[in-house]
Order: sequence, then C-alpha cells, then structure tokens
Amino acid sequence: MCGIVGYIGEKNVYSILVKGLQRLEYRGYDSAGICIANSGLKVYKKKGKVSELESFVASKDIHGSIGIGHTRWATHGEPNDLNAHPHTSMNGHFVLVHNGIIENYAELKKDLSEKGMVFHTDTDTEVLANLIEYYYQQEEVDSAEMAVRVALTKVVGAYGIVVLCNDEPEKMIAARMGSPLVIGIGQGEYFLASDASPIVEYTDSVIYMNDGDVAILEKNSMLLKTVENSAANFKVTKLDLSIGDLDKGDFEHYMLKEIFEQPKTISDTYRGRINPEKNDIVLGGLIDVWDQITAANRIIIIGCGTSWHAALVAEYLIEEYARVPVEVEYASEFRYRKPIIGKGDVVVAISQSGETADTLAALKMAKEKGALILGICNVVGSSIARETDAGVYTHAGTEIGVASTKAFTAQVTVLTLFAFKLAHKKEKIDQQTYELFIEEMLAIPDKVQSILLGHPKIKEVAEKYSEAINALYLGRGYLFPVALEGALKLKEISYIHAEGYAAGEMKHGPIALVDDNLPVVVVSAQDSYYEKVVSNIQEVKARKGNIIAVVTEEDNGLREMANDLFEIPCSHPAVASLLTVVPLQLFAYYIALMRGCDVDQPRNLAKSVTVE
Ligand code: M6R
Repeated sequence: MCGIVGYIGEKNVYSILVKGLQRLEYRGYDSAGICIANSGLKVYKKKGKVSELESFVASKDIHGSIGIGHTRWATHGEPNDLNAHPHTSMNGHFVLVHNGIIENYAELKKDLSEKGMVFHTDTDTEVLANLIEYYYQQEEVDSAEMAVRVALTKVVGAYGIVVLCNDEPEKMIAARMGSPLVIGIGQGEYFLASDASPIVEYTDSVIYMNDGDVAILEKNSMLLKTVENSAANFKVTKLDLSIGDLDKGDFEHYMLKEIFEQPKTISDTYRGRINPEKNDIVLGGLIDVWDQITAANRIIIIGCGTSWHAALVAEYLIEEYARVPVEVEYASEFRYRKPIIGKGDVVVAISQSGETADTLAALKMAKEKGALILGICNVVGSSIARETDAGVYTHAGTEIGVASTKAFTAQVTVLTLFAFKLAHKKEKIDQQTYELFIEEMLAIPDKVQSILLGHPKIKEVAEKYSEAINALYLGRGYLFPVALEGALKLKEISYIHAEGYAAGEMKHGPIALVDDNLPVVVVSAQDSYYEKVVSNIQEVKARKGNIIAVVTEEDNGLREMANDLFEIPCSHPAVASLLTVVPLQLFAYYIALMRGCDVDQPRNLAKSVTVE
C-alpha cells in the first residue's frame, strides 16, 4: 500500500519519478506527489491518479536530478491535495514520503504541538516530518541522518520512508521497518522504490533493505547502517524481472493479460518441480524440512483474500490425500486470537505480494511460538519470503491487476504439488495414484488454454447479467473455495454484491435471496459432490433463480437446468479448482468492463496491503 520512488544521480529525475509512480500506481491511487531538489525542495502533489499530477506539474519547474515521489492509499486523513505526500516539516527543512502507519502518531503529535510545532494535515506522516525536524534542531544532533535515526527510535509502527533535507540537498535518506524498500544500484546513481518495478528499466542490481536499516545515498556513495548507528548487513542481488513483464502488451487491462497468461504461469510454477521421467515431484525449497513436515501434528495455513481461498483448496487436498489435519485461518484473526501453536506445528503463509501486514505479523507470532514456518509467495525477496524457514515460490510473474488471478492458480498449483508429495511421502497414496496426479497436473495448462479460447461466450453471458445487483456463487468440496473466489472477483472489480456459499448451506439462509432477478453461479465438476450439487440447484430452479453453471464437457444433469453454461474440460477432481476458476475470472472481468469500472484499479483497494 502506497508506492515510493526516489532517485539521486545525473538523469532527469522528473521522468524517472513519474514513470516509477505509474508502475507503482497499483499500490494506491488516491493521490500522488513528487519533490525535486533544485535550489530548494519543490513539492507538487495532487489528489487522484498520477495522470492528474502530470497535468498539474506541466507548467511547473521540474528540473533537477534528485527527487522523491509517492502514490497514496489513504489511511490517516481523506484523500485530498493536502494529505497527499510528500509531506514537509514545519520549517521546511525536511520533505518525506512514507509507506506504513505511525501507530503512536497521536501521542507524538500532542507532544510536538505542546513544544510549539504546527500541523497542517491529518496525516501520521506529517508528524514524522516534524519529529525529524524537532530532533534536527537539538544541539546534540549534528546531521539530517542523525535526526532521522533519532526520530525513528521514538516511532511505533511500520514505515518505509525516503527523506530529503533542505540543508543537505545532495543526499537522500531512506529507512525501513515493516514496509518494503529496494535500492537500485546504477553507475553514479541510486534508485529507491517500494518494489523493483520502477528500477528494472535502469539496473538489475538491487539491495532489499532489512527492517531497522537506514540508507544514506549520494550520487557516488551509499552507506547502509542500522537505526542504532551500527553497520547493517546487506546483499546485492540480481533482479529476476524484465521490463516486458510490466507491460499490458496487446491487452486492454493487466487483469485480462494476467488471466490469459495462466497456461504459462501454471506450467512455469510446476516446471522443474515435476520430473515427468521419474514421475516425481521435487520441491527444492522444502528439501531440508520434509522430515519436520511429515512428522507434523497438523498444518495451519494462513493468508488473506484470494490467498486464503487457495489455502482452503489445500485444506481439502491435504486432509483427503495426506491425512494430516489442516486448519485454515485468516491471518488477521489468527494473529490476535491467541491460538495454540507450538513445536510440531507447521504454519504455511500464503501471499502473492509477500508484504501483507497481517500475514507477516501472524507468521512472526507463530515463529516465536516454535512452529516451522513455510512460505508460498510470488514476489522474490519479499518480507514474508524472507521471514520463513523454508518455502516455495510461485512463478506467476509480476501481477499488477489488483484482482488476483494468475497468482491464485499458481498458489493452488504449488499447494497441490505439496499435497501430492506429502501424501506420497506419508504413503497415503500409492505410486499409481501419485503418477496419475502428476499427469493430471501436466494436462492443466492446455485445458486452461481451451477455456480461454471460449472467452467470447463468457463475454456474451456477462452482458446478460451486467446490471445485476446481487449474485450468489455456490460450490461444494474443492469447488467451494472457487465459489468464494468467483464472488470475490465479481465484487471487488464490478461492485456487485456477491456472496460465495457452500451449496449445501444455501437452504440455511441465502436461499431467501433467490428470485427471478438473482444470478446464481454454480461451480461443478464430475466429483463425489456432483449429485448433491444438482439437488441444491433444483432448489434454486424451483424458486426461479437464474442459474449460470460451470460444468464439465461430460455433464448431463446441471446443463439441463442452467440458463447459461460455462463448459470446462474434464479433469481429476483434485485439480478441478484450477480449471473452474478461469471462467469466473473472465465473467467478473467482462461484467466490470461493461459497467465501466476501473478493472485494474478498483476503488478503495490496493494491491499490496501493508497496513493492518
Ligand atoms: O499479496 P497477498 O496474496 O497477501 O494479498 C492478499 C489479499 O490482499 C489479496 O488476495 C486480495 O484479496 C486481492 N485483491 C484479491 O483479488
């Protein structure tokens, strides 16, 4: 949440900042702003998207080669010009951009107000700017860097900040605690950003800052220390990202591009992990911890949103095939509900971004209690990936659309491989079943491709329902999480109220919603729940609900009852979630498009939720 970019070097900073902000816009798009150091610190900021900032600065002085920028997702204070970042300290000595939340800001603000400092905004960030300035004015503080470090020792909360000081305009100071910051290393220049997307165009040499790090950057030098003023450990790494990954290509939206990438992202995710010659699954990242995993009393899987839905699929798989008890928890609940965890538990944290604050905090809590912590993340080097004992990356590539699509299928791919491998290791499935599962997984990309080819039909159906006010999504077994995911996709990008339900639960309440205006999306496959689902749908039919059914080619029950059909190829039920979710992603996409919604940047949302 919130995107930060910074540059110090010889280049024209304005274009680096604006391009960077456009790439980071998926992290927040309430307002945007920049500060350029050029005979003083010039700040320009505007409510709305980066394009509005661009129009606003068109007539302004934007020369300079040092600067910082920010795109905001509002936490403290409504999204308006005043609350937009960068924020300037009372006497104009410091300008800073911030991602995160200063939890003790009210207390600090009161204290600073009593000391005579004046505030103009509702933000926690302005408090930090004034706090730095307050220490800068103290006799024992001899530099901007020291003022930043001292101020940060008084702060409770999460931050990624980049600071410019009027008196030291050739310097950029950055600090991280809980909110990511990446330093890009060029020739006589440095870049700073919340993720690598603004940097990749200029250099592939980066440092992921650690919590507690402070970086002091000048054109030709970099000093990394801790807030306590000792030397910091860091590692220069090579980016595994290309500029092409960040383009929409020929697609109208990132979300559509990402949906269509799934045949590739699923196979990229299992490539190198399935050995078809040896009929085996090898998860390299778990090699050293399999003994602990196979000996586990139970597996707890945590995540948020779509990642939580992927976790639910895993619960069905692991319990059915590996016979290990699994609990799936919302990270935001798990971290606060004093759960009983200890040695012998395995906690798996699932996160596309690897930065979700609740998931990160929940895993840290479980780690302290002695559980083995595994991670399934998409973003390499992300905070969650770095906190875990072991893990497996999904190889979905950069996901920019706020609605998660390819990340979900990549997560389910990893979790399915994990479940099959665990079942095999624990001798709960025989070699023949193991090999059948591997074959089924290898067949998924082509099957997804064939579903994607059917997109015109899905678009046609979407047109029929684009004016709906509510929608119900039903599924059972492996396809219950898919119903939840389908409903989440629809509500987050089209703003239609949609609920996902276990089909068997419908008669306990949601059936009251059914009338001839309600679209009811039923997700089915040829599995052991099929007949039960058919009976549940009879109940919808009897009440004149509009049935949109995801069915397999072999279906000969639901298709008779449905008003509209999305047909998918047959598969083993254990991998059916990877297929059934695809028409639902496209359905949500087309409906949002027809309703004129901002598909890639839906209102109130941000891609990476780094606040709780
Ligand atoms: O990056 P994460 O997977 O941890 O993100 C979790 C959720 O914020 C995310 O899945 C969110 O629900 C998406 N917008 C869903 O499309």
